[in-house]
Amino acid sequence: MRIVMFTVVAWASLLSGLITSTAQAQTQAQKDDAKWIVERITGVKWAANDPVMQQAYALAASGNRAGIAALATKQSQFLNITVKNFGLKMSTRDETDQIPLNDFTADIIGVTRDETDARELLYGNFSYLPPNALSDMGAYVKNALQSQQLFSAVDDRKTDFGSQLERSNVQRVLSSSNDAVINPDPAGVLTSQTFMGAHAIAGTNRRVIEYTFREFMCIPIDQWADASAADVRIARDVDRFPGGDNNRYETTCKACHNMMDGFRGAFAKWTYENNTAKYSSVNRGSSDSKGIMNKYNQNSSVYPGGFITTDDSWINNATRGVNLSRFGWRGLDGRNPASAGNGANDFGHLIANSQRFSSCMAKRAFQEVCRKSLADSDFSVYQSMGTQFEASGYNLKKLFQAAALNSRCK
Ligand code: HEC
Repeated sequence: MRIVMFTVVAWASLLSGLITSTAQAQTQAQKDDAKWIVERITGVKWAANDPVMQQAYALAASGNRAGIAALATKQSQFLNITVKNFGLKMSTRDETDQIPLNDFTADIIGVTRDETDARELLYGNFSYLPPNALSDMGAYVKNALQSQQLFSAVDDRKTDFGSQLERSNVQRVLSSSNDAVINPDPAGVLTSQTFMGAHAIAGTNRRVIEYTFREFMCIPIDQWADASAADVRIARDVDRFPGGDNNRYETTCKACHNMMDGFRGAFAKWTYENNTAKYSSVNRGSSDSKGIMNKYNQNSSVYPGGFITTDDSWINNATRGVNLSRFGWRGLDGRNPASAGNGANDFGHLIANSQRFSSCMAKRAFQEVCRKSLADSDFSVYQSMGTQFEASGYNLKKLFQAAALNSRCK
C-alpha cells in the first residue's frame, strides 16, 4: 500500500514537471518567433528587454502572429530601412540599395506608409517630397528635381524620413523656363527623376521598357522575348540583316525588339537631358516639331523601311503564347483594351493592372523580408500572396506583413 502511494505521487510529480518544462519551451519558441518576425520586418536587431519586444512577447503568448507583424510595421525602421531598401533596388540600373534616398523610393515609402493603392506607383499623379519642399518649390526644383539632393540630405541626417515625407497630389517636371510645372503625362515612379535618369538618358528609351518589366514584372527581357509577333513597330535603327544574315534578325533581334519597340512609343515624348527628366510639351529637349524625341527616329538609314514614330501610341505585343497567361493582362481600367494605349500613364495602367505586377510585388516583398528567394517552380506562392495583395486594395504594408507570416518565409 505504501509502495503504491509512493509510486502515484512520484508519477504525478514527474508528470507535472514534464508539463511545466513543455510550457516553458513553448514560450521560448514563441518568443523567438516573435523576435524573428519583428527583426525581419524592421531589418534591425532588437534587445529582449526593449518595450517593443515586450509587446511582441505578449502578443505571442496569445498566439497573435498577425498582431506581431502589425506591431513591427509600426516601427520607424520598417519604412526607413526595409521599405527604403525594397524601393532603392528597383530605382536604378545597378539595382542596389547602397545609394541615398531618391524620389522614386520616397514615393514607394509614402504609398506604403499611407496604405494607398500601390498600383498608383505606376500611373499616379502624385509625389512624396522631403520636408519643406512644398513651401519652397524653388529649392525643390533646383535640388530635388535636378540632383535629388534634398532627398539624400534627409537620408544623411538619419532622421525618421519615412514619417516626414509630404504627399503632393501632383507630380511636377521642370519646364523649359525652369519652373516646376504639372507633369502632363504622370506615371508615378516611372516618370520620376530617378527612373528617367537611369533609363531615359541617351540611348533610345528601350531600356525604360526593359526595366519596367524587370522591376515591376520581375522578368528579364530575354525571357518574355517573342519573335512570333508581326514586327511592324520595330524602328529603322534596328538592322534586319545583322552581319548580312536576315535569319539572325528573325530569330534573335526581332524577339526582343518586338516587345520593346511595341511599347516604346509610351515614352516618345520623354527624355532625360541636363540632369532633368523632360516631357516635350513643357520642356522640348531634343525633339521634333511633333514633340517626338529625336532618338526615336535616329539612324534611319540602317533599315529605312522600319517603323517611324510620330506620336506616343504604343501596342502590346506580349499577348501570345506563354506571355498571355504569364502577364495576366486586364486592360487599362476599362478605358482601353490591354492591346494598345497612349503615353506613359496608359502604359503604367497596363502594367499595374496585370496579375503579374501583384505577384512581382509579392516576390520582392518576400525577398526583402525573408532574405531569400523561392525556386521558380514555387512562383505560385508569390501568385497567391499577390491575390491577397489585390484583395487588400493593393496595400503594400499588409503585403510586407503577409510575407513575414508566410509559412515559406522561415
Ligand atoms: C535580349 C534582347 C535583345 C536582343 C536579342 C537584341 N536586342 Fe537590341 N536592344 C535590346 C535592349 C534592352 C536595348 C536597349 C539598350 C539600352 O539602351 O541600354 C537594345 C538596343 C538596341 C539598339 C539601339 C542602340 C542605341 O542605343 O542606339 C539597336 C540599334 C539594337 N538594339 C539592335 C539590335 C539588333 C540588330 C539585334 C540583333 C542582332 C538586337 N538588337 C538584338 C535588347 C535586345
